[in-house]
Amino acid sequence: MTGTSDEKPMKGLFIRTYGCQMNVYDSERIRDVLRPLGYAPVDAPESADLVVVNTCHIREKATEKVYSELGQLKRMKEASGGRMTIAVAGCVAQAEGEELIRRQPAVDLVLGPQAYHKLPEMIARASRAIGDRLETEFDTVEKFDALPKTRDADGPAAFVSVQEGCDKFCTFCVVPYTRGAEMSRRVDDIVLETRSLASQGVREITLLGQNVNAFHGPAPAIEGGEDWTLGQLCRHLAKIGGIERIRYTTSHPRDMNDDLIAAHGDTPALMPFLHLPVQSGSDRILKAMNRGHTAGQYRDIIARVRHARPGIAIASDFIVGFPGESDADFEATMQLVRDIGYAIAYSFKYSSRPGTPAAEMHGHVSEAVKDERLQTLQALLRLQQTEFNAAQIGKTLPVLVTGKGRNAGQMHGRSPYLQAVHFDGPESLNGQIVDVRIVGASLNSLTAELLQVREGAL
Ligand code: 5AD
Ligand code: SF4
Repeated sequence: MTGTSDEKPMKGLFIRTYGCQMNVYDSERIRDVLRPLGYAPVDAPESADLVVVNTCHIREKATEKVYSELGQLKRMKEASGGRMTIAVAGCVAQAEGEELIRRQPAVDLVLGPQAYHKLPEMIARASRAIGDRLETEFDTVEKFDALPKTRDADGPAAFVSVQEGCDKFCTFCVVPYTRGAEMSRRVDDIVLETRSLASQGVREITLLGQNVNAFHGPAPAIEGGEDWTLGQLCRHLAKIGGIERIRYTTSHPRDMNDDLIAAHGDTPALMPFLHLPVQSGSDRILKAMNRGHTAGQYRDIIARVRHARPGIAIASDFIVGFPGESDADFEATMQLVRDIGYAIAYSFKYSSRPGTPAAEMHGHVSEAVKDERLQTLQALLRLQQTEFNAAQIGKTLPVLVTGKGRNAGQMHGRSPYLQAVHFDGPESLNGQIVDVRIVGASLNSLTAELLQVREGAL
């Protein structure tokens, strides 16, 4: 692509994102870091000068997808006469390092999740064919400090990273190895980023972290400078003009402290939705997973959260077929699900990850049994999700309008409980919070009628 002599020539950037919301956020930041170098997003990898594959390592399937994508990109790179640069970012990059380049030599750059700010320098080096193609050092502080403090909003809802990494070492999980030690971002920087988003029309922020409720960061000096918890951070961010909704994900039961639970009761901006993964309902399996809590303690936390914020929607993650999981252990998970009643949940078959303690354990469960348990669990979770959605029919809910719906004249948005909502209304509502009456519900969404538009919205 070409440009005039005094401005940087435009170059096409295509980012493919796999995995969790943290990767979605990181991809946005990669885009921000590359913009000053003249990179602008394009719609297809074929027309890109730089393709970044932001990868996920959490389960085997996720990793395999990356290699098949890289195979396709290699063919595109050849067709481009070698013009295309291929960068692999994220957790597969961190875990596999040089092995990635060995397995797929078309890859030009490999950078772990703590190295995005070094991407411009790496691209410069690659274009001159000098130096290292690999950057997988852990330095979360440096990453947090080096990334631009303000950013372009992309709609009325945005992610804000507040914490990274994990020290929990659940025995099945690669995250502590790929994302490094637990680390919180400075409150000042979080506030700057949130203010910048709010000034661009963002109404809802989701605070992100692998262990987001382990957040503990020094407060701004004028607030006393003491270490704040996530609850204190949420209360503070709720005061920023324009920010009407706050969410956070993903949390761990061990860090669900009293102050955060209280914040659910005393901070209306904190949305009535809690994603608190439990993984299993069996104490024996929870112990083998090194989760650091029992099923009873989890039940107790949920009861206290529900007391603080009646009607709050509860979400979770589950793993079936962890090594040694018996029928009785699985039944304990089913019973926990029946007892709690989930608004939504994500469930997975255990996937053995090289280097994790669980991979070395005895009693690996057969694929057939894992399949059967997953189907049984998902049938119950689908039923609960459908019931939770149906329970909204007849209610009036405030919906954050996030864009046009599929049909003409239709808009979509999200409820306080994170449900997708469709309703007929004018496009001018985009980015506003409007009241709707829920008239229909299915497994994945609600339909509604527009009731009343807040003053100044139209
Ligand atoms: N196998 C299956 N599921 C896993 N998860 C994490 N590691 C594994 C694994 N090895 C799931 C957990 C976690 C979610 C992000 O992914 O449920 O909460
Ligand atoms: Fe993985 Fe456990 Fe840390 Fe979550 S808490 S990221 S499951 S090690």
